[in-house]
Amino acid sequence: MSITINAAGTRFKLDTRHTSYAFGVGPSGYLNHYYYGAKLPDVPETFDALDRDFLGLSFSPYRQLKHIEDSRNIALQECATHAAGDYRISSVIVCDSLGCNSTDPQFVSAKVFPGRPAIEGLPHARVNDDPTVETLEVTLRDPATGVEYLLDYTVFPEQDCIVRSMLIRNASAGRVVIERAMSFCLDLNNMDYDLVQVHGSYGRERFGFSRTPLHTGLQTIFSSRNSSGHDHNPAFALMEKGATEDHGGVLGGMLVYSANFSIEIEGDPFFRTRIVGGIGNDFSWTLESGETFRTPEAILTWSSDGLGGMSRNFHDMLRDHLIRPRWAHQERPILVNNWEGTYMNFNREKLLAIADSAAECGVEMFVLDDGWFGHRDDDHSSLGDWFVYEKKVGSLKTLAEEINRKGLVFGLWFEPEMISEDSELYKAHPDWVFTAPGRERTYGRHQLVLNMGIPAVVDYLFDTISAVLRSAPIAYMKWDFNRQPAEISNPLLPPERQKEAAHRFMLGTYELHRRLLEEFPDLLIEGCSGGGGRFDAGILFYTPQIWTSDNTDAIDRLFIQSCTSLFYPCSAQGAHVSVCPNHGTARTTPLETRGLVALAGTFGYELDMTKMTAEEKETVRQQCAMYHQYHHLVLNGDQYRLADPWDGRCCQWEFAAKDGSEAIVIDVLFRQIIHPGTRFVRLRGLNPDAMYREIGTGRVFSGAFLMNAGITLKPDGRDYIAQLLHFKAV
Ligand code: GLA
Repeated sequence: MSITINAAGTRFKLDTRHTSYAFGVGPSGYLNHYYYGAKLPDVPETFDALDRDFLGLSFSPYRQLKHIEDSRNIALQECATHAAGDYRISSVIVCDSLGCNSTDPQFVSAKVFPGRPAIEGLPHARVNDDPTVETLEVTLRDPATGVEYLLDYTVFPEQDCIVRSMLIRNASAGRVVIERAMSFCLDLNNMDYDLVQVHGSYGRERFGFSRTPLHTGLQTIFSSRNSSGHDHNPAFALMEKGATEDHGGVLGGMLVYSANFSIEIEGDPFFRTRIVGGIGNDFSWTLESGETFRTPEAILTWSSDGLGGMSRNFHDMLRDHLIRPRWAHQERPILVNNWEGTYMNFNREKLLAIADSAAECGVEMFVLDDGWFGHRDDDHSSLGDWFVYEKKVGSLKTLAEEINRKGLVFGLWFEPEMISEDSELYKAHPDWVFTAPGRERTYGRHQLVLNMGIPAVVDYLFDTISAVLRSAPIAYMKWDFNRQPAEISNPLLPPERQKEAAHRFMLGTYELHRRLLEEFPDLLIEGCSGGGGRFDAGILFYTPQIWTSDNTDAIDRLFIQSCTSLFYPCSAQGAHVSVCPNHGTARTTPLETRGLVALAGTFGYELDMTKMTAEEKETVRQQCAMYHQYHHLVLNGDQYRLADPWDGRCCQWEFAAKDGSEAIVIDVLFRQIIHPGTRFVRLRGLNPDAMYREIGTGRVFSGAFLMNAGITLKPDGRDYIAQLLHFKAV
């Protein structure tokens, strides 16, 4: 049992393998948070001991003061009230038909059931027949409005994760308007944490992270780009003071959502922390009597094994319970994508020639990128016209079949949510584009955005895209999203409901994913957004991999892939070998290094393979063989970040089998220093008592030796040199 409730039905304890989360009904009917951290063996009855003595009531209002927690401003809450005497940030605001938005839900009942509630229309964690998954559903009710709030806590014991979401039900007779509906609220009784967040921009997505001490006042991670965006990511970590990559307590959270989001962390005047996260702030949603609204989910985890432990919990959770099971633990075909090889300047012969060279080297899939549809030769036209540019590529069906005959499966690029003014679609439906009445339009890459909140748009895209997918043997789809919407509105909604438009846009996009996958359940989709501008758990629910960045420079990728791995598994990170000098950074790195960096992702090539020398092709052949030899460790194993690129010299990633029987280390030295002393590597995740053979040298070490003493690495006087070490239990 992962959920225990005391005899009175008022204290709740959620246990995973290594963590406990405890809360209960406070003296005046709110849900009070007691604890989240390393596992507590105690039963729920003992939680009263977690009530803290508290000094500092002044200027904290109350109704009847029987207990200090009667003051909402002092109670640690699971669902933070609004305009009812709590002056911290709220997690829910619902405005009644009189225009009053005081929101003050109180406990009604709780129930436990196996699995989790059905979630329609939103990406979500999947049970996948795991009998250990259970849900606690707590019903709160605001006596003033009659609106009900169902807080769901689904416990995934094996992954040390708790998934939270909230359903708001308008059980009142009138209309209410949701002004804020956060996916979770978590009040911690101290402020002794550092906030970790990842940041970047186009070409530098999740290129770095910041670690800043919490302080009183607000720190926010957000996106208002109508997409999770390149700049920030809907995920955070709170590290205990002194916690490191390998040690100490770390609380992590991520939203299963891909549009505007806000994660707000408030240090209160009593040195405590409130965290709320969910749909971003430019939002409201009207509920008529009887209607419901479900928030996106949030996944929370705790690890006592530092930031690395938190990452591994998230990796397991996403692979075991979020990414489509069809692909989550399945090797993806090694691909060659023609984008950096040809951009839009290609013809059928060129594509077939690249496929020929790729087939010679062991590549397994050819992906035709942008430029195959409408009359698209540059980025000014044709988005939305999902019919084949036959003058350029001939018949798509015979092209795909010819590529199949060479031994490669075929993949194709789309950009569903986009439209060019120079397109048949725009001529027919200028009204399908986001526009704000009386305002000049904004463009991004010369293109406009389709309003996915209009069901006819989703129907059109489903019909045209599925027709292409049906017309030829297409195994893979790259789903791009190359600008972020502005002028968000929805012509189907009255003026007072326009703040629903952004969320409805996202729901329409999710619906298109769902419908396509319903018809093409085996289709492998790679998410993409001008590189990695929509890398989040919402998209990962539909697309088992996401293109991490248009920046394919192997050295920059060390930073990007390391930082992305704080929250997302490497097996979901699109990573390709491209040419040198790199098109983005002009840096030249050895092909071997580019290969090893890409091996820590989904692996593939993005260059004109016809231009490779015989020697380079031989290297590619070896790299393809290495992918098959090692990828199961990236796909199913535990990742350890042994050396951080931010330290300025080298990056080391280890991928170890879960049973400790095998591990690889990818080591890239990118900045030599003079007289560097000894470099060494110390592994993690091995069995200390087992003996391991180093493949290649044949040397044998104990797991304890490899993890504690470590082995030295051969000195090499050059920058950008990489090596792969492989250890197998004997
Ligand atoms: C985006 C993608 C690239 C490529 C181009 C095509 O930038 O990230 O990989 O598909 O679009 O226009």
